[in-house]
Amino acid sequence: MEREKILVTSALPYANGPIHLGHLSGAYLPADIFVRYHRLKGSDVIYICGSDEHGVPITITADNEGVSPQVIIDRYHNMNKEAFEQFGMSFDIYSRTSYPIHHETAQAFFKSFYEQGLLVEKKTMQFYDAKAKKFLPDRYVEGACPKCGFEEARSDECENCGAIYDPTELVNPVSKITGEKPELKETSHWYFPLGKFQKRLEAYINEMSEKYGWKENVLNYCRGWFKEGLKDRAVTRDLEWGVKVPLENAAGKVLYVWFEAVLGYISATKKLSLEKNDPEMWRKYWQDSQTKYIAFIGKDNIVFHTIIFPAMLMAWNDGNPDKYVLPQNVPANEFLNFESKKFSKSRGWGIDVIDFLKRFPPDPLRYALASNLPETKDTDFYLKEFQAKNNNELADILGNFVNRTFIFARKHFDNKVPKAANLRDIDREMLKLISEYPAKVGALIEKYKIRDAVLEMMNLARAGNKYFNDSQPWKLVKTDKQAVAATINISLQTIFTLAEIFEPVLPFTSQKIFKMLNAKPVNWLDAGKPQLNENHQLGEAEILFTKIEDEVIEKLYNELTAGSQKPQIAYEDFDKIQLVAAKILKAEKIKKSKKLLKLEADLGGEKRQIVAGVAESYKPEELAGKRVIVVANLKPAKLFGVESQGMLLAAETKDGKLEIISPSENVNLGTRIK
Ligand code: 2FM
Ligand code: ZN
Repeated sequence: MEREKILVTSALPYANGPIHLGHLSGAYLPADIFVRYHRLKGSDVIYICGSDEHGVPITITADNEGVSPQVIIDRYHNMNKEAFEQFGMSFDIYSRTSYPIHHETAQAFFKSFYEQGLLVEKKTMQFYDAKAKKFLPDRYVEGACPKCGFEEARSDECENCGAIYDPTELVNPVSKITGEKPELKETSHWYFPLGKFQKRLEAYINEMSEKYGWKENVLNYCRGWFKEGLKDRAVTRDLEWGVKVPLENAAGKVLYVWFEAVLGYISATKKLSLEKNDPEMWRKYWQDSQTKYIAFIGKDNIVFHTIIFPAMLMAWNDGNPDKYVLPQNVPANEFLNFESKKFSKSRGWGIDVIDFLKRFPPDPLRYALASNLPETKDTDFYLKEFQAKNNNELADILGNFVNRTFIFARKHFDNKVPKAANLRDIDREMLKLISEYPAKVGALIEKYKIRDAVLEMMNLARAGNKYFNDSQPWKLVKTDKQAVAATINISLQTIFTLAEIFEPVLPFTSQKIFKMLNAKPVNWLDAGKPQLNENHQLGEAEILFTKIEDEVIEKLYNELTAGSQKPQIAYEDFDKIQLVAAKILKAEKIKKSKKLLKLEADLGGEKRQIVAGVAESYKPEELAGKRVIVVANLKPAKLFGVESQGMLLAAETKDGKLEIISPSENVNLGTRIK
């Protein structure tokens, strides 16, 4: 049989912050399970990912920290690569869009479109920060949504109501660099004529979804876009950080991050080819019409992968002899919430992968996430549920079945696989059941029904326990050792099948079980046949899962819900923070800001201007005379154009307001708080 050729990509996460559990559920864990399954099945599969290292979120983070974007992307690329490794992601490469090969690849696409005469140059009015002498693309401008009034709307998109509008419609726009009101200034950009591709895109999506069963959530989304009608989209930006526009008259312009990020999948595969000393290898996947290309993403990335990227590939294929395959399926997941609220970096809600894995091993996390993937709707991650999955399913069902079988094998059969003779009905039924599982689980994974697949995996472990119980080897061992031998033989064969079919979800555990069995995985399709010969020597048994105590979960829950979770610091780090008792002298509103107040504080003879985000909790007149704690050595920063020379300590109250932490009159102003 010809090996199926499969190209799998997962969305390239921005190297702008640590990845959290929600990311894993969306685009990474399901893809890894799919890939691991295909590897075991013998498919010719390649799995590509990497960091998305351009775009405004990264430069804004860099500006805020006062470092170069390079510092930010190095930090988070390495951190996320490490987190993925610990979690057991089996990418063939985790590349970076800052690599030269990526810049070249993206520029070649732009050039090809340009030379085909596809790109339209248009003059437009763009926000400009006269003080910073910079254009303000994308998230560099914030203001109120013209549709719903939401105050922190982005320049062309409202997170609150989903409206998409022209940046010029934004109400009360503010520059994120200086806090100034931006002006509109003329600039020119190149536009990709997405509308020209609408018919072909609709035909493509219809064909693919009919043949390969696209998910309803993805199709609905695409239909919405088609109904609105696809419009030209600017594919360049006035920015320094990014892939330079490869034209003479384009100084200070880079490719729009989404235009080049999707091409990161291709450049990453090229990079892998170079690393393998097989520079043309990437073409065997990207440019072979037999390749099944599956793009795993979260729902916020749908339009880019089902419409924009395919249109770009079509455009390339129109003008070039080497032709790319288009995604055959884009099984986008919905979102995972944490304890019933959205993960949020800014609100410190949720937990990063790296922090989670400092406390618990990866497989229980993989299992808990995989059995609760947001495949059709948003789902929730609850720590209590994680604990229950670990204790009541992994430990009590899978772990227990493996453990009791190995104990019997060692105690009664010299740690060898005993002979299965004179099979009873119950034995034959169990053998039949095992034989059905690989195909059953595989079919679900191939349909991206990973949750159901995981349920079936555990069902086989449940069946194993039931078989063991019904066979009553502890009773029969005194009267019918031959029957017990059959039970243990078949239980060991079941454990083999479990080790194999659980491998995509529990790779670390599967490896341990194979070691205990002193065996190696076989082709997935053979894993339901008895694989262990009579007298086969078994390895050392070990405990597969440790139960998680209530206290551990409660403590973590309290830590996480009390505020954002921070890593431990040394005393010297704490000592760097100069906390000082102070008194507010006066407070006033800041124009256009709902949240901020401008304060003047007395730090014991020294006056400071401080901008504090307490306007929704205090009226300015309530604050004069109030005693506060100020972080006195914080680098000054501008908020809404107003300089802030310090920060107040405050905490969230039960009703979600902020309460300023206030030392009593006994503490002298200016006293250091330690
Ligand atoms: O949403 C994100 O994190 C994007 N960086 C995903 C990019 S996917 C692809 F285009 F690279
Ligand atoms: Zn809105």
